[in-house]
Amino acid sequence: MYQILATDGKAKRASFETVHGTIQTPVFMNVGTAAAIKGAVATTDLQEIGTQVELSNTYHLHVRPGDKIVKQLGGLHKFMNWDKPILTDSGGFQVFSLAGLRKIKEEGVYFHSHVDGRKIFMGPEESMQIQSNLASTIAMAFDECPSSVADRDYVRKSVDRTTRWLKRCKTEMARLNSLPDTINPNQMLFGINQGAVYEDIRIEHAQQIAELDLDGYAVGGLAVGESHEEMYRILDAVVPYLPQNKPTYLMGVGTPANILEGVDRGIDFFDCVYPSRNGRHGHVYTNHGKLNLFNAKYELDDSPIEDGCQCPACRHYSRAYIRHLLKAKEMLGMRLCVLHNLYFYNHMMEEIREAIEKGEYKQYKAKKLAGFEETT
Ligand code: GUN
Ligand code: ZN
Repeated sequence: MYQILATDGKAKRASFETVHGTIQTPVFMNVGTAAAIKGAVATTDLQEIGTQVELSNTYHLHVRPGDKIVKQLGGLHKFMNWDKPILTDSGGFQVFSLAGLRKIKEEGVYFHSHVDGRKIFMGPEESMQIQSNLASTIAMAFDECPSSVADRDYVRKSVDRTTRWLKRCKTEMARLNSLPDTINPNQMLFGINQGAVYEDIRIEHAQQIAELDLDGYAVGGLAVGESHEEMYRILDAVVPYLPQNKPTYLMGVGTPANILEGVDRGIDFFDCVYPSRNGRHGHVYTNHGKLNLFNAKYELDDSPIEDGCQCPACRHYSRAYIRHLLKAKEMLGMRLCVLHNLYFYNHMMEEIREAIEKGEYKQYKAKKLAGFEETT
């Protein structure tokens, strides 16, 4: 059940009940592609940094260790020791961005594994079967994410196929949820809006998928090379056509500024590899811009990454120490930076929820954005 608790302009503060607990939105999902947050972050750490939802990938877990193995071990929750909600992406996007040679047909996609090169086929039914074996809380529809420079004709055909695939996903998910040996018979399904940068195609697609009465609706195919302004223009156009009584999810986005803008346009769910990827490179977020801890100016800096930050890195360690760890290639350096960054994102979402409740979202966003622009 999705319940809007407060609104401020288009920004929504809501709660979303799942079999693995209630999600407070707006929320940032912490990305653990292959059932692990990169940077040696354990699920026991996630409790400490305020993670509500973990995100994993169908494609990666199908290739390794194999979804049937995860099912035999009791499902993804048990496998990775995480009892809160998990969202699995469908594999569509990863196949397009990772797999080598691939062929898209009406039935699905033929491609080669990025691990061992073996031939794999994945269509809507296969994607649902894999996600059902993983037993995530929320499964994503199998979609095609056309390139941001794809021409109109291609995008139109691709989006129509994505709609046909979505209907097959819905049918298959209902069948899987009714099987006696299904680990999570309440698995939810989110549809994905596509249409590249063409507003009219996006809107038409949103209207078509809205009729399918899914558990939630994502906007996909953004942050794939188009400008931020274009992304905001598409969100302005399409979000009003998605069902208002269901959660919305902006896939793969983004920077803290992108998230602030997405919330302002009615988005509930976000995910992005930035906090973990940047952290692994010693780049850390603060309310006064991003820092590169490799920089020589932190050599003697005994202050935390950010004053007042309650993350495990800032509560116990200095910039100088973390810089030393990074330079010495000690795994702990990466780990502390990733923990700080994820805490930063999760904590910002908490502030966002509070600001919407108080009706102060515009002021909060402006202040936050101004801070990010400062160079430290
Ligand atoms: N992650 C980021 N963008 C997308 C998208 O368009 N589709 C899917 N399935 N996952 C994504
Ligand atoms: Zn911190």
